[in-house]
Amino acid sequence: MAVPSDVEARITDLRARLAYHNHRYNDLDDPEISDADYDVLMRQLGALEEQFPETAAADSPALKVGGAVSATFAPVVHRVPMTSLDNAMDGAELSAWGKRLVRGVGGEEIAYVCELKIDGLAISLRYEGGELVQAATRGDGRVGEDVTANVKTIRAVPHRLMPAGGVGVPEVLEVRGEVYMPLASFEALNAAALAAGERLLVNPRNAAAGSLRQKDHRITDKRSLSFWSYQLGEVRGGPDFRSHHDTLDLLRTLGFPVNPNVRQFTDITGAAEYCAQWQEQRHDLDYAIDGCVVKVDDLAQRERLGFTSRAPRWAIAYKFPPEERTTLMKDIMVSIGRTGRATPFAVLEPVFVGGSTVGLSTLHNQDQVALKDVRPGDTVIVRKAGDVIPEVVGPVLSLRPADSQPWVFPMQCPCPLGSELVRPIGEANIACIEPACPFQRDQRIIHFATRAAMDIEGLGERTVFQLSEAGLVTDAADIYSLTVEQLLQLEGFAKISAERLIAAIQDSLHRPLVKLLTALGIKHLGPSAAEGLSREFGTLDAIMNAGEADLAMTEGLGGVIAASIVAWFAKPANRELIEKLRAGGVDFGNVVVSRLPQILAGRAVVVTGTLQHYSREEAEAAIKGRGGKSPGSVSAKTFALVAGADPGASKLTKATGLGVPVLDDVGFVHLLETGELPAP
Ligand code: IVH
Repeated sequence: MAVPSDVEARITDLRARLAYHNHRYNDLDDPEISDADYDVLMRQLGALEEQFPETAAADSPALKVGGAVSATFAPVVHRVPMTSLDNAMDGAELSAWGKRLVRGVGGEEIAYVCELKIDGLAISLRYEGGELVQAATRGDGRVGEDVTANVKTIRAVPHRLMPAGGVGVPEVLEVRGEVYMPLASFEALNAAALAAGERLLVNPRNAAAGSLRQKDHRITDKRSLSFWSYQLGEVRGGPDFRSHHDTLDLLRTLGFPVNPNVRQFTDITGAAEYCAQWQEQRHDLDYAIDGCVVKVDDLAQRERLGFTSRAPRWAIAYKFPPEERTTLMKDIMVSIGRTGRATPFAVLEPVFVGGSTVGLSTLHNQDQVALKDVRPGDTVIVRKAGDVIPEVVGPVLSLRPADSQPWVFPMQCPCPLGSELVRPIGEANIACIEPACPFQRDQRIIHFATRAAMDIEGLGERTVFQLSEAGLVTDAADIYSLTVEQLLQLEGFAKISAERLIAAIQDSLHRPLVKLLTALGIKHLGPSAAEGLSREFGTLDAIMNAGEADLAMTEGLGGVIAASIVAWFAKPANRELIEKLRAGGVDFGNVVVSRLPQILAGRAVVVTGTLQHYSREEAEAAIKGRGGKSPGSVSAKTFALVAGADPGASKLTKATGLGVPVLDDVGFVHLLETGELPAP
């Protein structure tokens, strides 16, 4: 079959792009695209070359590993090549690989060793007569770079091997593993760079690579790198190994660090579970991982499976979904919050990262924009790690358009009034101080309806904007006089949805006082101080009429919050809102003042999973009602973790690791009754 010309052009283009990105990643330690974007290009090329084998070229990047060898370091020829790994992008690809292998060994069973895929850089250590004689980077897999002096500064790398545990030292031993930078060191390095006004390092992997390839090994020494070993290269005069886990045992015995999370499985299902589990728990470690590596354990089976042109058939990298991508930042705009605060945010070409599509991302404040030096038109790195809010990490400077200009904070409110924005001296935030600003007003209404406040389902940002535009609401109290007929005039509302929203609004009339207090949006008054106030005073009127000194006596509430509350109620516009809410039928105090003994005072009890007798909110209220706290995560200070059905795996592991007692439903009731832990 002839190769269509557009396919040929596409292949040429992909090869050129991959070669370029290989060079940036491996030789310059300054990638322009994320690993995930690189993998996408590589897969596209691989698929086309497979479909049109006649396009094959010996120098195709699809057949190559890593980068070129630089002039800075002496070349080192790897006697056993340092190959790359093929990828599985999900559980289905992993089990398909497992099935292929079983066929490849004539239907025999295959046992696996699973390891974490450390996000660092591969290194080969050569020991002769037990002495570390050479350390080399992977380079192009065949020839790497001599970085011996630098690697010798890494404390986890042994300089001399001693016979141990009845094992002698092989005459020649090549140990392969990953050099990485622990997250704490990475963060410390970046904090120092920030203080010195220097450019921040993008991620721990680049930081490790950059540190290892320093010309001056004294700089490497300061970077606190570490090392995990996971594979052997050339071995002469060593014991006979039958399995991969034998080799890891030897490494451990000789004093090499082997990652403690290595596990053996008797089939691919176990391996798949391991990968899924670590995908969930990847952030519980103090170093970065970007996947897992699944390896055939039996070395005789490995022999029979062999290699493709690029990688062994007997191992595969299970890649986690990307948490970092590159994308175009089309613009920087400013949003106005309910207190008038003006927050710059990035408008991005939407990109799928960390499990969701990100189109907008906050840039926090003027100083952050300047520090990151991001400009409209920049290609930027976007990160969304775990449950963390997506963030723009920084620009890819090499892709910056020639005519790019630093961004200037607009000093006019984006609302139709266009009032002047101000930055009070000594503050990091610029704000709109116009009391009539319609953008602030809309945000106050949106906040009023949020889950932590009056919890009105269906009254989100979009609907509030619609209502405000139609002139149906000018403050939060107006929502209580809305009618189904009025909603029906708005786009997107039908009878059922309009009735449902009105019902949700009516339902919110009887929320507990703590929710109403939160909904008012008083500066500094968060849910936990609101909780204390509502327990102490019982009604909104009592709080409104209390003096600053009385308020400040409330537990968990200091002078600053007390002053802010008094100032808020002193404003006529706010008094008016309160009276409008009262007239609308909002309940100002359906709170029973807590008379419970404060047996959990000062104790933190974390709740996870589904409990039999309490909803999450009820469980937390029961803890707080007894003087305790119920934070969202486990730490060394946690008194107990209450775990119902389907608990969060990371909370459970963390609690067990820290020795925090874990209670079931019965144990929880005991705790609420006595303030004591149940007998183990
Ligand atoms: S085994 C032939 N094990 O991932 C087997 N590699 O894309 C070679 N990596 O170049 C590698 N953790 O830099 C292996 N536990 C692990 C690993 C690991 C990280 C890196 C290594 C390798 C790349 C493959």
